[in-house]
Amino acid sequence: MIISTVDRWNPDETVIHRASQILGSGGLVAFPTETVYGLGANGLDGSAVSSIFRAKGRPSDNPLILHVGLPDAVSLVAEVNRRARVVMDTLWPGPLTLVLPARPSVPSEVTAGLFTVAVRMPSHPVALALLQDCSFPVAAPSANSSGRPSPTDADAVLTDLGQSVDLIVDGGSTDLGVESTVLDMTGQLPVLLRPGGMPLELLRDVVGQVLLPQGAMELRRSPGTRYRHYAPVVPLLLWIPDEPFPAREGIGAYMGMVPPPVVVFRSLVFDSVSAYARGLFAAMRDLEREPVEFIVAQLPSFEGIGYAVRDRLCRAAGSAVCSKKEG
Ligand code: TXA
Ligand code: MG
Repeated sequence: MIISTVDRWNPDETVIHRASQILGSGGLVAFPTETVYGLGANGLDGSAVSSIFRAKGRPSDNPLILHVGLPDAVSLVAEVNRRARVVMDTLWPGPLTLVLPARPSVPSEVTAGLFTVAVRMPSHPVALALLQDCSFPVAAPSANSSGRPSPTDADAVLTDLGQSVDLIVDGGSTDLGVESTVLDMTGQLPVLLRPGGMPLELLRDVVGQVLLPQGAMELRRSPGTRYRHYAPVVPLLLWIPDEPFPAREGIGAYMGMVPPPVVVFRSLVFDSVSAYARGLFAAMRDLEREPVEFIVAQLPSFEGIGYAVRDRLCRAAGSAVCSKKEG
């Protein structure tokens, strides 16, 4: 395993080329995107893609995103209709993944046997340089062990996957800190499968109506949302501002169980919601190493990237207050 540090704005071509060669010969490369670090493999090579699942301990029925360096590369792997074309031309590169009808060239390891495939063109200069140096799309989930917080720096990748990855391209901390927004464009109307780095408000400005995942039917359509993602070893209690503190079910009962002098807790409170998104996963990883009894996390509103932060917090806490309902 090698770690190569690059300048995020001007990544060394020899490092990028070595990375694309490793991918081309079936290896695994972790690389930064604007959202989180990805664990990449050649997306057209089924056996390379299988090694992603082994490295992460990921259930094989959870499909992967294919990453491309140019919108034109999508037509090789998916059917692109006019509406999808407009979205790609307007919002890419960026933290937005589109689910489209898959072409037969896509290995079933990528799609987990679905007839659709997820595609995304990231905006991070290191990711773009790498993807543009590859002659194939790169399948990449977040570069964490399955069930752990997504990695926002090379250190977190090393901790989780140091044993199984061939190269980590270290481009520093990621910008957004939460994964891409996933939008299903295979139906009559686009459906939001995962809130993420691209705000829902911006999506609606471009595509008009966007349906929210409601009920089991949509859940089945995005296999990843079925799994409880990250469950911290200590309880995570959600605090909703405007409600009295300590709020909701947890804290009062918990305090009753523990003699007050030994209660040690940390709170997740950030200056802005973008700082919250950027620091959330790293904070979760840090707090695991501290002897805390519980973690209190402030729940941001659904606005902008707050929707994604809220979603990740609620998944970690096993709470349902994250689901946004409309109409
Ligand atoms: O920001 C991101 O999206 C990062 C970076 C590395 O690009 N990647 C990422 O991948 O978060 P992953 O595998 O951790 O999450 C992909 C999500 C999962 O919830 C998966 O179920 C969903 O996308 N997905 C993939 N293919 C799909 C498909 N064909 N239909 C519905 N959902 C799909
Ligand atoms: Mg993930």
